[in-house]
Amino acid sequence: MIRDVLRMGDPRLLEISQPVERFGTPELFALIRDLQDTMAALNGAGLAAPQIGVGLRVVIFGVQRNPRYPDAEEVPFTILCNPVLTPLGDELEDGWEGCLSVPGMRGVVPRYKRLRYSGFDQHGARIEREVSDFHARVVQHECDHLDGVLYPMRIRDLRQFGFTEELFPGEDIGDD
Ligand code: NI
Repeated sequence: MIRDVLRMGDPRLLEISQPVERFGTPELFALIRDLQDTMAALNGAGLAAPQIGVGLRVVIFGVQRNPRYPDAEEVPFTILCNPVLTPLGDELEDGWEGCLSVPGMRGVVPRYKRLRYSGFDQHGARIEREVSDFHARVVQHECDHLDGVLYPMRIRDLRQFGFTEELFPGEDIGDD
């Protein structure tokens, strides 16, 4: 089911989400289906459970060739519960981000360039990957939602934050 996405200003987006305690349940499968349906309907790169008002540590993400992210490499579709992120090195990289909870805007956000992440899929199978660049950025953005952090909070130069249509005139870039 396509769910409403909470927008910045809703206090539920600022809460710390709770760990998933039981995997393989109909409730968890239903949540993930809703996240998938909603992300697909809005053509997003990722979505976190708190964005649809569910305070659980569940994110999904994945990018196939997407006209909105012309320079982005593909990111495999991933369901990740209880993620743990470990930066590899302290190199940060600036990049443009958007968010379905901050529609119509973009900002430049520093993120770790390389990291390891681990967690579990919806069945409780362990996932562990080392990633870099855009994949690493997407994971950091989505997992921030689980700790009540929205990307504008991480922008260092607010001159690089604005409405997508003004920042990228004429480009077909959507809301997320
Ligand atoms: Ni977001």
